[in-house]
Amino acid sequence: MPQPLKLVYYVESDAAALQRRAAQYFADSIQSAVARRGRARIAVSGGSTPKPVFAALADPGQEWRGKIPWDRLDIYWVDERCVPPNDSASNFRMTREALLDRVPLEAGQLHRMEGELEPEVAASRYESELRNSFRLEGAESPHFDLIQLGMGADGHTASLFPHTSAVFEFGRLVVANRTQAEQAWRLTLTAQVINQGPNVFFLISGGDKAEVLREVFLGTRDPERLPSQLIRPVNGILTLLLDKAAAALLPAPDGNGRVELTLR
Ligand code: 6PG
Repeated sequence: MPQPLKLVYYVESDAAALQRRAAQYFADSIQSAVARRGRARIAVSGGSTPKPVFAALADPGQEWRGKIPWDRLDIYWVDERCVPPNDSASNFRMTREALLDRVPLEAGQLHRMEGELEPEVAASRYESELRNSFRLEGAESPHFDLIQLGMGADGHTASLFPHTSAVFEFGRLVVANRTQAEQAWRLTLTAQVINQGPNVFFLISGGDKAEVLREVFLGTRDPERLPSQLIRPVNGILTLLLDKAAAALLPAPDGNGRVELTLR
């Protein structure tokens, strides 16, 4: 039986407010990691939801760019599509256009998944990259200071898709996985790695995610069908940043837009 999970979620009035909350969350998490350890190592996801948040972090006209110690930041990816980095489907390209090209980061601070390579080769190489950059020994997993996840309407997160082999992979750090829908190859951190993170959060927006959010967190446990249920950080805390539309089928927040639930 898994340990109880403290689910903390914040509900923002609309997508714009959610973007501001998420930008603040990134900035606070990076700053506190740098204050503790001198560096912040974060892992980000692809998809459409994080893109405006990355743009807000890079925007000199907004409050976050000046607060982030960019020279102390290392960026990793939670997952990637098996395409070249300049492909329109590439998560790296999305992050580069929204953020990386607009802030002072050196190439050595970017730890890209090599989607242009043969999937298994790319997965092994990223696993080596993690082992080297985190100086892992034996069966150790990397502990990212912050992991940002999204959630698909089918219950996937990262590139852990329903009924795919990656869902049950607990020996490796990074695997290649095929999506069912497009039968496309992806690269993904495994749930084991994600769950080692002391600060894991889902960033989810839109009414199309309301039903899957309810199923994942309040429905029957079935991680093969709903891989987002695999995400149960070992420190027992999971954060969700939601807009009202996405949170519509979850218990309503109190006056300050925050809810804390204990999931057995
Ligand atoms: C990807 C992501 C994926 C994403 C979800 C949600 O490569 O697309 O890593 O897991 O987080 O599909 O995507 P949206 O933010 O577009 O809803």
